[in-house]
Amino acid sequence: MNKKMNSSFSASAAIRSRKSVRTYKPLLLPAEKKAELEEFATSLERPFSPRVRLVFLDEDFFQARTGRKIGTYGVIKGARHFIAGVVEKGAKDLEQVGFIFEKLVLYATAMGLGTCWLGGTFKRSGFERAAAVGSSEMLPIVSPVGYEAEKKSFMDSALKVFSGSKKRKPWEELFFNDNYDSPLGEDVAGAYAIPLEMVRLAPSASNKQPWRIVKEGTEWHFFMEYSRLVNRSVGFDIQRVDMGIAMSHFELAAAEEGLHGCWKLRDRASLPFPEAGQLRYIATWFPAPAG
Ligand SMILES: Cc1cc2nc3c(=O)[nH]c(=O)nc-3n(C[C@H](O)[C@H](O)[C@H](O)COP(=O)(O)O)c2cc1C
Repeated sequence: MNKKMNSSFSASAAIRSRKSVRTYKPLLLPAEKKAELEEFATSLERPFSPRVRLVFLDEDFFQARTGRKIGTYGVIKGARHFIAGVVEKGAKDLEQVGFIFEKLVLYATAMGLGTCWLGGTFKRSGFERAAAVGSSEMLPIVSPVGYEAEKKSFMDSALKVFSGSKKRKPWEELFFNDNYDSPLGEDVAGAYAIPLEMVRLAPSASNKQPWRIVKEGTEWHFFMEYSRLVNRSVGFDIQRVDMGIAMSHFELAAAEEGLHGCWKLRDRASLPFPEAGQLRYIATWFPAPAG
């Protein structure tokens, strides 16, 4: 595989250029590209315990296993390859699969490939069969991977307009200093301004951008603004996947800035910012001690 690419992969460049691609050239990936993606997928570190399997499925394999074509309700056109995210059920399972899957999405982006997170518009049962999902596992999300077509399908263009996919919320709605009433300025964020900006640019289900981050001293508390509508429409807390994506962007961009640390769970009772309204606590970033 291309080791050079793996080590020089710029996550922030990939974050800035990634977008949902729903129309593909009907081409198979060269074997070495597929192998490179698969190898990258096995090397990923994870913040929580549940095991994740990233399963590569191409149209022929899918048909052989299920007797059916890959189904995405017409949302994805032309794609010959998909990746399914399968996670062992357990605490922080959905955050974990979001965290890991996004790293692969960004790596694919850096390789010049298109992807599109799908949590709702795909036929889950066929994918579950093709990926041999066990009773202790779940398959919340999939993505096509391949070469973007020059001309978008009608559905692709319509979905982009419908989801307002280019828009992102401003800083003052997302990042806070000490309490929810005090927006965090870029000057106060200091070196963490870039990791926060990378969170702001992240993809999310229905583009709801549920992440809310509160700075307390040197710690960064991640909360989720829960939308009943978004989560109920798919039947599980898909916004916890969004939170895993946000954590992934934060950690990758922080590492590029030389800021290292780790994820920990604060005891809810000891949180300085209690869960309020629809705000649910997810995890805290603790910077590594300097030196
Ligand atoms: C967890 C998750 C689930 C998603 N599910 C779907 C889906 O089922 N169908 C779809 O067309 N897009 C889906 N999307 C794509 C979002 O609509 C898209 O990321 C968002 O509108 C921002 O646009 P962008 O990805 O082009 O930046 C999903 C995104 C995420 C992160």
